[in-house]
Amino acid sequence: MAIARPRRLLGRIAAAAWALAAAPALAAPAYSDIEPILRERCVVCHSGPAAPQGLRLDSHAALMQDGARGPVVRPGDAEGSELVRRIKGTSQPRMPLTGPPYLSDAEIGRIAAWVAAGAPAGAAAAPPPARKLPEAGEPVHYGDVAPILLQRCVKCHADQGLMGPAPEGLRLGSLEQALQGGERVAIVPGSPAASELLRRITGQSQPRMPFDGPPYLGDEEIRVVRDWILQGARDDQGRAAPIPVGAPVRLQGRLEGHWRIDGLELYLPPGARIDKRPQPGDTVELRGRVGEDGRIRVERLRRR
Ligand code: HEC
Ligand code: HEC
Repeated sequence: MAIARPRRLLGRIAAAAWALAAAPALAAPAYSDIEPILRERCVVCHSGPAAPQGLRLDSHAALMQDGARGPVVRPGDAEGSELVRRIKGTSQPRMPLTGPPYLSDAEIGRIAAWVAAGAPAGAAAAPPPARKLPEAGEPVHYGDVAPILLQRCVKCHADQGLMGPAPEGLRLGSLEQALQGGERVAIVPGSPAASELLRRITGQSQPRMPFDGPPYLGDEEIRVVRDWILQGARDDQGRAAPIPVGAPVRLQGRLEGHWRIDGLELYLPPGARIDKRPQPGDTVELRGRVGEDGRIRVERLRRR
């Protein structure tokens, strides 16, 4: 034993040294080296017709195409390529827009090396599977709505978005952030009508979201977000989110009778303030809090 051990160790060192020496030779940068990074960190936004600046990052051909501002890859010139500048942060906003975390130094190095080597295509990879929305009646999980929120909302609703700090403090980069809300909650699990997030994407509340629309979300996308909230804003394991009892809300909508807005039953406790004599049919704004049953306890209701 005492003799065999150092020999085994030497063997291991030799194997490791061989691997180190062989690695640079094997590692002529190929598109297949960077494709997993792009798929994991970029494609959620940079794909499909709503890709920011028309820049799709879901295939070599798409990456080499001109976006709205021209090419982002200059083969052979890593430092001059917007792709590399964005992941390093030499061009702002830094990518991925969902960061931090940004890419690791090793990942940035791999992409820069690939551009420096002339951005070769290499063997064609299989095209990524197309995103499919759940059918009506099917369970909806966060993973089904995340691509919509990331692609259409996070450019602003992030700590350092296109408009600076997140509007109204509302960040939408993860399930936790979406449920937490900002200055108030935007999602009341189980109650789409009490969820300002849904009201904003349908236009019941103004300004309609996304703020840079049209285009707004498609009917099917809106349906999936509504079903997700209705089913309890479930995570990817199928667990419904808790009702944020006591959290502040602010909603806009059309008043119907005493007291509902767009079908949402309200609770006006004694002392609730009613301003500017709102009549049925009027657009109103209300502020209140989420009750234990998920109903909204109105603190103030006023005609807009
Ligand atoms: C949350 C959505 C989102 C993610 C994730 C994201 N981006 Fe972006 N990207 C944007 C938006 C929005 C813009 C436009 C910003 C602007 O106006 O400059 C943009 C712009 C860019 C641009 C500049 C395009 C041009 O023509 O000037 C590059 C390059 C880019 N992104 C690369 C990446 C890379 C690489 C990743 C992954 C490491 C990534 N992005 C991840 C949303 C995203
Ligand atoms: C171009 C930037 C931008 C984009 C993209 C955007 N928003 Fe907004 N969002 C804003 C601004 C600005 C406000 C504040 C507007 C106001 O109420 O005056 C806002 C407000 C909101 C509010 C109200 C928050 C509250 O506390 O009252 C919600 C909810 C919301 N956005 C959801 C979304 C959703 C969902 C998306 C994507 C489908 C989205 N936004 C995309 C800029 C943006």
